[in-house]
Amino acid sequence: MELINLKTPSMEGKIYIGADVIQTRLPALMKGQTNFVVTDSNVYVLYAAWFEKYFSDTEIFVLEAGEENKNFASLQAILEKMAGAGLRRTSRLFAVGGGVVGDIGGLAAALYMRGISCVQIPTTLLSQVDSSVGGKTAVDLGGVKNIVGAFYQPCEVLVDPTFLQTLPQREIKCGVGEIVKYAALNAEIFDLLKENTDKLSDLAFLTKLITACIQHKANVVAMDEKETGERRSLNVGHTTGHAIELFYGLSHGESVLYGMSLETKLAIESGVCEKEYGENLLAIVAAALALEPNAKTDFSSIVQASEKARLDKKNTDDGEIKMSVAKSKGAWTTLSLPFANYQAALIKAVKN
Ligand SMILES: NC(=O)c1ccc[n+]([C@@H]2O[C@H](COP(=O)([O-])OP(=O)(O)OC[C@H]3O[C@@H](n4cnc5c(N)ncnc54)[C@H](O)[C@@H]3O)[C@@H](O)[C@H]2O)c1
Ligand SMILES: [Zn+2]
Repeated sequence: MELINLKTPSMEGKIYIGADVIQTRLPALMKGQTNFVVTDSNVYVLYAAWFEKYFSDTEIFVLEAGEENKNFASLQAILEKMAGAGLRRTSRLFAVGGGVVGDIGGLAAALYMRGISCVQIPTTLLSQVDSSVGGKTAVDLGGVKNIVGAFYQPCEVLVDPTFLQTLPQREIKCGVGEIVKYAALNAEIFDLLKENTDKLSDLAFLTKLITACIQHKANVVAMDEKETGERRSLNVGHTTGHAIELFYGLSHGESVLYGMSLETKLAIESGVCEKEYGENLLAIVAAALALEPNAKTDFSSIVQASEKARLDKKNTDDGEIKMSVAKSKGAWTTLSLPFANYQAALIKAVKN
């Protein structure tokens, strides 16, 4: 079992990683207060015996699986069930599931009685390497993702890679999208992926990367909890990625991979990313995109899709599109382009 400490101005949290984290930490975390669980319908069915073992006496809210349920109505239903279960200020919420459960469960913990203790137990690759760490919680509203939320740090995150054994390949690919993002920011992760592009769907290899990814994210969040500076680096590939996700309806991870591919090409073309390094990064992204299932999207409508990038939360009022992009091994920078130049650059990038 490995331990990473994450100290931010608002909280000192612990992240435990390993196949033994549940049996080692969970009983102690459950003792001494009323507990509450948020999970989703897939995880609840797949892990029925696990819930029976650890949470047989605990109130469990089972959210219907899917991003479309990360909304206000579900949040209200969770809060009502928490109140009905008589939770107090000292109670503790356990979010057991992927990023959807982590985001909405974390937000419910942040809101209930102005904040109760929260433990994240991420069960997807994406949530293990990314969303369970760092305290961003949210629901979607009016078709805009994560527009209502709070920064609220969990007191502990228990990362057990054995949950990944039941994860469908599509979800593995989503997590690989975020892992490749770290390769653009961290030299060690870059080298590991560059030398192992044939192992991107190998669970044993991916498991080895989880700790490095979490350590990277924890370092960034410790420096900049509220995303005013360094934390923006974690958005590499995400400006164009979110536009693709919204327009084409692809999965988040696959969209981020396409976003990384296009934005890295833009960065090379604009001279802000070293060419040789950028091309090596593009080779890693291409290997990840080739994983099955492959949506094989045709980007002939990239002009219409790019309109969605105008909605990005990072944009300021000057009308420019702001992207966090790879610069050189282990380094990133911001690339800001007027919208018309951004569109023109994308048209060129999808052609090569
Ligand atoms: N808070 C953050 O910092 C942050 C960062 C990145 C993404 N996110 C959010 O995370 C969400 C995406 O997370 P996700 O990719 O985990 O999606 P998800 O929570 O929808 O999980 C994906 C699917 O896998 C299923 N599942 C979960 N664990 C499983 C397991 N062990 N075995 C089999 N199936 C399992 C789920 O039921 C679901 O169908 C988005 O809402 C996104 O906005 C948040
Ligand atoms: Zn992401």
